[in-house]
Amino acid sequence: MTDLADRQARAQMALWQDHLRAVSDRGDPYAQLLRAPEDPYPLYEHVRARGPLHRSGLGVWVTASHKLANKVLRDKRFGVRRADGTKAPEFMPFDNSMLGLDPPEHTRLRKLSVPSLNPRRLQRWTPVAEQVSDELIDRILAGRAEFNLMSAFAQQLPLRVIGDLVGIPQRHRRSFFQLSRRMAYLLDGVASVEVARDVRAAIAEMTVMFTDIIAERRADPADDLISDLLPAVDDGRLAMDELVPLCMFLPLAGTETTVNLIGNAVRALLRHPEQWEMFKADPSLAPAVVQETLRYDTPVQQYRRIAHTDVELDGHLVPAGTELAICAGAANRDPEVYSAPERFDITRESGPDTLSFSAGIHFCLGAALARIEAEIALVALAARLPDLRRVGQVRRRDSFIIRGMLQFPVAVR
Ligand code: HEM
Repeated sequence: MTDLADRQARAQMALWQDHLRAVSDRGDPYAQLLRAPEDPYPLYEHVRARGPLHRSGLGVWVTASHKLANKVLRDKRFGVRRADGTKAPEFMPFDNSMLGLDPPEHTRLRKLSVPSLNPRRLQRWTPVAEQVSDELIDRILAGRAEFNLMSAFAQQLPLRVIGDLVGIPQRHRRSFFQLSRRMAYLLDGVASVEVARDVRAAIAEMTVMFTDIIAERRADPADDLISDLLPAVDDGRLAMDELVPLCMFLPLAGTETTVNLIGNAVRALLRHPEQWEMFKADPSLAPAVVQETLRYDTPVQQYRRIAHTDVELDGHLVPAGTELAICAGAANRDPEVYSAPERFDITRESGPDTLSFSAGIHFCLGAALARIEAEIALVALAARLPDLRRVGQVRRRDSFIIRGMLQFPVAVR
């Protein structure tokens, strides 16, 4: 970035922050949500009180309604890019991933990725996840009684699995881990010029690393995503400059989310000791614990769509080009759909699908893997660390998109 561009971005960011503060101070619940409160759930109820759809003072249309959100996500008149092809906000440096594309490019990239990520193929990661969970717990048991569950366990498992799935050689694993953590800010919405600059630098380093790995895989194919996709590069279905972002996006989409699913599940269980006891007594409840955590405290709290044409919705006209925020964390607690939605209850009758993995054409491609990893992680923790308890202050991520913890101090003895 040049100095001039840097200064412009900084000025733009400062203006945005001032505007956000002013609208938030006027009591706009969506603006208050964007300031990443510790607990967004009371604010979601203020959003809900404004009706199934309302226009925030920030100009964004907002919904907390499960029914309306589901409809929008399946409506072809909404996409993720503006009509001129750009994606908002402009200062996001990484927008050519599958998630940032509309059809037909999105359809093509998604079709190419499906074979490596279909639920049947993802089952093969079960033994890997079991082995990694066990190794991590061995290490925990050999160490200090008190530790940060996020760094010692939750952050490690998904990265190890995705590293194998994508095909990252062992010698690159350490920098892959570090770069992934730096890029994770992308999911939070880049909040400062400094962070944007660092994320860009991490992307540049990761690009060099992947270019190297791809060359290696071409010479010596293996059982991984890169090797699966190389034939598509050779026959022209996939451009080389699409393969690298695809490989980089997966670790991002697949780790920060799953890390926090594991963390949020443990946190919810420990805050509801009777349910923690119930789960320890009956590990076959693991899928129910994961499902209820996805509903009660989803790692991806919101995502957006852009109207590609004027759309009539719930009695409002949503003009072409405007953005609509889907508050998944709120839709998952919509009382029209879930009874006593504010209650964490692993014995809940399974209701309609949550919006934690989205819906429609961008439905999460890694949902099955996330469930496998979280279930295995929870079963292993319950069996081997039954005395797990929180021993200190939790520190959350400063994000309105990703809900999770950076510090979750626990003890095992
Ligand atoms: C708890 C874990 C996870 C959560 C909560 C989650 C959530 C989501 C959500 C909400 C979207 C769609 C956003 C939108 O509609 O705008 C999405 C898309 C995606 N996710 Fe996940 N995800 C998780 C794990 C994973 C994993 C493990 C992988 C990969 C192995 C993955 C790969 C993807 C991909 C490739 C997309 C883009 C799909 C598309 O655009 O067609 N995710 N995820």
